[in-house]
Amino acid sequence: MLEFPDQFLWGSAVSGHQIDGGNKHSDWWHWELATDSQPLSGKAVDHWNRFEEDHELLEAMGHQAFRFGIEWARIEPRRGEFDPEAVEHYRRMLQSLRDRGIKICLTLHHWVLPQWVAEQNDWCNPDTVDQFLSYVEFVVQEFVAFPELWITLNEPMVAALAGNISGDFPPQRRSLKAFRQVTRNMLRAHAGAYRLIHQHCPGARVGLAMAYPYLQAWGSRGLAGWYERLAMRISKTVIFQAWDRSVHTGRFHPLFGRGAVNGLRGSIDFCGINYYFRVTPRFSWRRPRTGFLDLDAVPEGIDTNDFKWQIWPEGIRRTIEDVWARFKKPIFITENGIADKDDSKRGRYIVEHLRQIHQAQQNGIPVDGYFHWSFIDNFEWKEGFEMKFGLVEVDPDDENLTRHPRPSAKLYSRIIQNNGITA
Ligand code: NOJ
Repeated sequence: MLEFPDQFLWGSAVSGHQIDGGNKHSDWWHWELATDSQPLSGKAVDHWNRFEEDHELLEAMGHQAFRFGIEWARIEPRRGEFDPEAVEHYRRMLQSLRDRGIKICLTLHHWVLPQWVAEQNDWCNPDTVDQFLSYVEFVVQEFVAFPELWITLNEPMVAALAGNISGDFPPQRRSLKAFRQVTRNMLRAHAGAYRLIHQHCPGARVGLAMAYPYLQAWGSRGLAGWYERLAMRISKTVIFQAWDRSVHTGRFHPLFGRGAVNGLRGSIDFCGINYYFRVTPRFSWRRPRTGFLDLDAVPEGIDTNDFKWQIWPEGIRRTIEDVWARFKKPIFITENGIADKDDSKRGRYIVEHLRQIHQAQQNGIPVDGYFHWSFIDNFEWKEGFEMKFGLVEVDPDDENLTRHPRPSAKLYSRIIQNNGITA
């Protein structure tokens, strides 16, 4: 038996827009409607109306913690107008988890903005920072007693890159200038939120959930190999190191701009790691659009998920080691999971990643909790409901949206009960 520490927190994660449904005042909702090729989130899995049933399920599955998100667009659907009904609804959600003894990890921003913020140029507009902070202050005053852990921003660099460089997410810009403005304002927003939460609750534990894909050069010979290694170094910097460096030092990394940010330095009490896969870019003349790199290349013998993402459990331990070396703060795995329609790989995926986490703990690194992504099938952004990440299955075409725990959910419950995995 590989046992985990006594206080280790076992749970799973979701986000508001992806499971609640009806997030009508948000930029994503408007964008989904405006873009022909984009699937609609619609009522998602209707968690908004079925949260009690879902919390019961969490309890039955033995969950000790749940990571979910509050949507700014629901709390403040119009500028300066806070919706008392939404606030009460969230209070009931929080209370229902507390009544069941399930600890709360609360995300304040998971990619989605109110439409009125999008219309004023979203994170490019410096006013958005203060407006975000007034939303945060409101939420903190209302709900300060509930969360065990706070996440200010989820995967800020994914949102900044997909929204401003690749053009995959709203607002679909392709502008380095916008990218730099957005990252600077998000760093300011994070620092401000960190300060505010601590003002109202000095003992709060606040962090970020960062996307850390494991990037490894393919290993071609000669010049191609040199190019792959160079591309790797640049990608790592852009995807997470520049952000982490800024948080660590309190000054913008040159990729984002110049100058210091009030309160940014060391503004995390724990590190949130979202880890899913490895990427091994391979030099290819045939891929000019991705910088002559084949990003989908998979080494022989490596399994993939329904997204064709490489399953590479060792990456989670290496990431934990890197993040620990950088920050020396306790670590939570805030997301880890697999798109696996027929649930044939999920169980093993969980066990193998936990084995690596356990190894990191044995090496002296404090990893204090694990949130599997996801508790339930949900709206996977551009892929809609096609990708199945849930421990619990829901068919979006089933009128009743009946919840069916998958075999892997049972396995995960056993792991929680045993506080470990079999060696
Ligand atoms: C990370 C994101 O935070 C989450 O919203 C998404 O569904 C998962 N990755 C899976 O792609």
